[in-house]
Amino acid sequence: MTCTVIVGGFFGDEGKGKIVAHIAHADEPTIIARGGVGPNAGHTVQVGDKEYGVRMVPSGFVYPDARLCIGAGVLVDPRVLAREVDVLGVKGRIFVDRRCGVIEEKHIAADKASVHLSQKIGSTGTGCGPANADRVMRVGRLAQDLPELKEYLIDVPVEVNTAIDNDEVVLLEGTQGFGISLYYGSYPFVTSKDTSASQIAADIGVGPTGIDDVVVVFKAYPTRVGEGPFSTEMSHEQSGELGLQEFGTVTHRERRIGCWDGEMARYSAMINGCTQVAITGIDKVDKACFGVTEYEKLTPKALAFLRAAEDDINRPITLISTGPELSQIIDLRDEF
Ligand code: GTP
Ligand code: IMP
Ligand code: MG
Repeated sequence: MTCTVIVGGFFGDEGKGKIVAHIAHADEPTIIARGGVGPNAGHTVQVGDKEYGVRMVPSGFVYPDARLCIGAGVLVDPRVLAREVDVLGVKGRIFVDRRCGVIEEKHIAADKASVHLSQKIGSTGTGCGPANADRVMRVGRLAQDLPELKEYLIDVPVEVNTAIDNDEVVLLEGTQGFGISLYYGSYPFVTSKDTSASQIAADIGVGPTGIDDVVVVFKAYPTRVGEGPFSTEMSHEQSGELGLQEFGTVTHRERRIGCWDGEMARYSAMINGCTQVAITGIDKVDKACFGVTEYEKLTPKALAFLRAAEDDINRPITLISTGPELSQIIDLRDEF
């Protein structure tokens, strides 16, 4: 039985939501806990013809038998949480650490009003930066200070570490991506916290010895939203011709698109302590691979891409996503 952390290896939006949902269905965890910054994240999970967009609830919610936890390092926007709990029907199995920082209207207003954040950095306008600033200044309120969050409050580290000690399957879900880490990303064009696997574990209250596997998710064509350097970025015309356009889950902004960046992938795998790699968007490398679920059915073009990526990262690629839907994936984890 294992505790696995899933994180993004590029600039966020690598498809962590889809990968977490798949691993959850395959491995049947008892707990799925989320780390990361807060509701600036937007995971898309597609099951059949239903598409869900989540910002606060862990994307593993699509697996119905797991308890869902939000770690103390995550900022909670009580309005966003209430809406998602309602829409997704997860009441009774979602829990919030009592020490989570909270996002208030004033944080959202400050994020949007700040020319530095909203224009220079291109923040999501969800109040995360100002709320984390308040936390660092030790003036921010915590989840335990709000009556409307009372019914969700628990000690997440006790839940998660007890499950780990009992040899249960546990998933720790990261958000954002390596390139927008406050420490390791392209500062100042970054989010308000580190986004690496160690940070995600710390957000949830799991120590380094509690982690068995670190799955780093990369997309075949990396994307970036907001400002900042993007060395492999292609022109708008080129991404249009290749049919690669994407739009953000939270802000609906058009994502900037780039080519595979092997150097960044390798560096990111190093800092994340990557043990296994997931690659999404193989159907974008070769349209003939859309929806393929068997390794043997991948085309020579896709296989060549995967071999080169594996050489770049120097870690095994064990999950290959061939489309946005939950079942469109090749899972080779048993072979390693
Ligand atoms: P953050 O936590 O905000 O960083 O997001 P995320 O990593 O969960 O990714 P997000 O869902 O925002 O974006 C990934 C997009 O790619 C979504 O629209 C997914 O439905 C889609 N997607 C995931 N895997 C694949 C894939 O293999 N092929 C294609 N074509 N799309 C995919
Ligand atoms: P903030 O986190 O809203 O302050 O935004 C800072 C930068 O991080 C901006 O460039 C955002 O577009 C980017 N960002 C924050 N969260 C995500 C995410 O989940 N996916 C992709 N980019 C993100
Ligand atoms: Mg996203």
